[in-house]
Amino acid sequence: MDPREDEKRAAAEAAALEVQNGTTLGLGTGTTVAHFLPALARRKLEVMCVATSQATEDIAHKLGLPLQPFDLLERLDLAVDGADQVAPDMWLVKGGGGAHTREKIVASAAERFVVIASSDKLVDRLGPPVPVEVLRFGVAATLRRLADIGPVEQREAPPTPDGNPLFHLMVAMDDPRALASELDSIPGVVGHGLFQPELVSEVIVGRADGTVERRERRDPRR
Ligand code: 5RP
Repeated sequence: MDPREDEKRAAAEAAALEVQNGTTLGLGTGTTVAHFLPALARRKLEVMCVATSQATEDIAHKLGLPLQPFDLLERLDLAVDGADQVAPDMWLVKGGGGAHTREKIVASAAERFVVIASSDKLVDRLGPPVPVEVLRFGVAATLRRLADIGPVEQREAPPTPDGNPLFHLMVAMDDPRALASELDSIPGVVGHGLFQPELVSEVIVGRADGTVERRERRDPRR
């Protein structure tokens, strides 16, 4: 068994213990979240969940977790999700599963956003790739704008949960805030995988022995 799976499970189980009865809960996407869902279901709490992808929705449905479309809810109490990279200042790169646009909407609607991760996700500094979801309309023009920032690679992956193509921007990330802002300013970019620290409440890193390390933001956003 891959020790990283034990780390993911430890982080996921610790996060499941943070959920309380009555919580409205955003569910992320990925293999770490796949450990969180059964841990949550085992607690048999009364919760209302919003899923960020069909894959998460399918697992949650099988486990009997109540789901609601994210059309009418204005806010959530908590969102729990994995990450591809976690920097010491809590900048994240997400989108390995292509659901980062939905995940960012859910994280930013949540009172608390808890990131669960195995230890290999901790990095000294963020590095490429940055996943970018692009609107199909005008895709060539959007890609030209992205290429002004750095090399762009077509991602060998299914489209995003909203049917948009995915690309990888292969750039160094000396200044993630400036890069995020530049990407946000390109009209055809639907969403990118850079998540700012202001979104993050806590990072839970699992250890293979079942214990966890918690990193809380010192100046929580809300
Ligand atoms: C999906 C994501 C995932 O949270 C991220 O890729 C981590 O995935 P995993 O838990 O499988 O390592 O951002 O869009």
